[in-house]
Amino acid sequence: MAYSPYSLLERALLSGNPDEKGALTDELFAAVQDTALDTASAAPALDFRMAGRPCKPELVAPSQVTPRKMNTVEGYAAMLHAICHIEFNAINLALDAAYRFRKLPEAFVKDWIGVAKEEVYHFRLMRERLRHFGFDYGDFEAHGHLWDMAYKTAFDPLLRMALVPRVLEARGLDVTPAIRAKVAQRGDTETCGVLDIIYRDEVGHVRIGNHWYQYLCRQRGLEPVVLFRRLIARYDMFIFRGYVNIEARERAGFSRFELEMLEDFEKSLKTMAG
Ligand SMILES: [Fe+2]
Repeated sequence: MAYSPYSLLERALLSGNPDEKGALTDELFAAVQDTALDTASAAPALDFRMAGRPCKPELVAPSQVTPRKMNTVEGYAAMLHAICHIEFNAINLALDAAYRFRKLPEAFVKDWIGVAKEEVYHFRLMRERLRHFGFDYGDFEAHGHLWDMAYKTAFDPLLRMALVPRVLEARGLDVTPAIRAKVAQRGDTETCGVLDIIYRDEVGHVRIGNHWYQYLCRQRGLEPVVLFRRLIARYDMFIFRGYVNIEARERAGFSRFELEMLEDFEKSLKTMAG
């Protein structure tokens, strides 16, 4: 009989304990290997405002996250904490994609469960680094920006694929090399090793997002490049601000043609805005 992943997905997604969430995600990943999934007979997804998260970190507006200097241990730990928080949210985002969107091929569900498992791994590695410096996840405040985007795109997998993996997660490819350089300058080779793992895996996650974005566009007869341009303008998002890692984005499935179109388009928006 085909295996239905949804009750375990729901438990993992709603768990507010990071250790439990990680263990349930590992269990789920093992359960869906080499198994046909029953994705048809499930009850509709629950509609919740927040996925499970611990009561700390306290969530504040992005502008309210206290800036800290990298040259103190506390400031350095705050930076590691910010990465931990991104990884924690990434677990929820991947679980939510697998859980929420029904009537898609089972490969979609399996892909996002696979991503969730890697995000759990990243979270654990980064949390270890944070603990190494005497801090833990929850010790600093954080913002809810990533999950907010999941909530805004919960009604449509095409929108989710367009705006979460292709915009927010792809942004990680742009910023990770600079963070790694700062970490290397500090001589923290272990954290560099963790960042290398994260960077390598994130290319794969963005590629999965790209794959399903293209799939859903084809299925609906929509032109992916034009649609994406319209979506990022509509949702007030951007790709070209600061350094854009063209090489990693190409490996993650963006075409050079699309990136050049986007760059021109965003330039013209800026000009229009004066
Ligand atoms: Fe990650």
